Amino acid sequence: MEEIDVIVIGGGPGGYVAAIRCAQLGLRTACIDDRVNDHGEAVLGGVCLNVGCIPSKALLDSSHHFHRAQHEFAVHGIGVKDLTLDVPVMQQRKQDVVRTLTGGIASLFAKHNVEWLKGRGRLMGDKRVQVTDAKGGQQEFQAQHIIIATGSSPVGVEETPFDGERIVDSTGALNFEEVPKRLGIIGGGVIGLELGSVWARLGSQVTVLARGETFLRMVDQQIAHAVHKDLKGQGLDIRLGAKLVSVKTAAKQITLTYQDTKGESKLQVDRLLVATGRSPNTDDIGAETVGLAMDGKGFIVVDDECRTNLPGVYAIGDIVRGPMLAHKASEEGVAVAERIAGQNPHVNYAVIPSVIYTWPEVAWVGATSEQLTAQGTAFKTGVFPFLANGRARAAHDAHGMVKILSDAATDRILGVHIYGPNASELIGEAVVAMEFAASAEDLARIVHAHPTLSEAIHEAALAVDGRPLHI
Ligand code: FAD
Ligand code: NAI
Repeated sequence: MEEIDVIVIGGGPGGYVAAIRCAQLGLRTACIDDRVNDHGEAVLGGVCLNVGCIPSKALLDSSHHFHRAQHEFAVHGIGVKDLTLDVPVMQQRKQDVVRTLTGGIASLFAKHNVEWLKGRGRLMGDKRVQVTDAKGGQQEFQAQHIIIATGSSPVGVEETPFDGERIVDSTGALNFEEVPKRLGIIGGGVIGLELGSVWARLGSQVTVLARGETFLRMVDQQIAHAVHKDLKGQGLDIRLGAKLVSVKTAAKQITLTYQDTKGESKLQVDRLLVATGRSPNTDDIGAETVGLAMDGKGFIVVDDECRTNLPGVYAIGDIVRGPMLAHKASEEGVAVAERIAGQNPHVNYAVIPSVIYTWPEVAWVGATSEQLTAQGTAFKTGVFPFLANGRARAAHDAHGMVKILSDAATDRILGVHIYGPNASELIGEAVVAMEFAASAEDLARIVHAHPTLSEAIHEAALAVDGRPLHI
């Protein structure tokens, strides 16, 4: 049996980053991953690179270009004759991006001498891990430390199974080879809105059935209302409080029956995306055999430092508490690697940014107004609309706002919420500010380049003190 310092099970953004960091710290490291692409080739990068963050953003960017050319170029005096759409070419570009990036991880493994074990990993107890390859061949390894990073998979709904063709999960909806005439989406969460935006921009008639009465519950509600209104304008018909009753599939169409305050209604679609959340991949990792503590929902129980109940066994990413986000998984991976190497790292769970890549984008960090109110925390608010921002106006992209919440007594920033162009990039400044425990006044006193979108953050910080300059 081969002995290794660290075995990582799972090669997604949690696992592959943990493996690289372990190797950088001089630990002999192997990473087991079972993922193969559509060509049957083993690939690293997990959900994020293969069927998640990267391919979805590739399609969001492509569809954004198409939508702009169709609806916005004319304002700039640019005429486009005979605009065409070639979905297979768009899909091929997406796949090329994925292939380049997943290949890049394989090169990084080679550079850092991380051993890539292709197959399924299973805990055997006593820090032994069994690897079963695609042909059923088995090997066993002994490790000083084990990092479990097996990620998550889509949860379906009991009303209908996925058929991979017309009733699909996010992976299926990333791979449509033609624009569905009518696309139904169950679930008004992040995937529903991002992939709904992609296909709506390309011409699909998109209807989202959202079970909850509150749109984007996790987002500051002033911003959520603005997003709802704008997405409606972009052709996304989002029906709140719509509870699915049944799904019937016929040769020509899929009929959804749902219940809302108006009673029972029917919706006919050609394709259906079910995007109702994800659940951790922990069914088949040998957890019971080795006595790994789990919660009732399949998540592995860990402490603040990602330690499980088994000595030397850590768990990170989508299989543990906290948001299911790639950057959260990666930071946990780095922290665990450094802890194994005897260092004392720290992940600040209070300052993890979230982004929804609609257009405009939604990005936030820290608490929402609703959370602060519920906690009974007294806070000040500064809001600045992109309508009053010169750069946003120059770009003809002036929807949305920046909203900063700070402690009423100390002025320490408690939350920053951005809805606007490039919010995903702008939020970085807020993350740095909050990480350094800045006050709104600190942001207000920082010189921001002109003309930039970031001036809206500056102005929102000034607005916290009631003195914005441009509204
Ligand atoms: P994963 O990425 O799921 O990787 C786990 C890997 O382990 C997989 O390759 C899996 O096949 C493998 N595996 C599982 N079990 C075993 C086993 N027993 N043995 C060997 N290998 C195993 N997050 C963001 O932050 N930003 C985004 O823009 C974003 N967009 C997304 C878009 C979509 C459509 C989806 C579905 C997700 C998106 N996410 C996004 C979420 C993000 O992809 C996940 O949070 C992230 O991939 C989790 O990383 P992970 O390393 O925990 O697991
Ligand atoms: P989600 O949790 O964001 O949204 C799921 C929605 O479906 C919720 O609103 C929920 O109320 C609803 N729902 C649940 N069960 C339902 C049912 N039976 N019928 C109708 N509605 C139901 O989950 P989603 O969109 O599937 O995404 C999964 C995760 O992937 C996200 O939580 C996020 O962590 C990650 N992700 C992150 C992205 C980003 O960072 N930009 C992009 C895409 C995914």
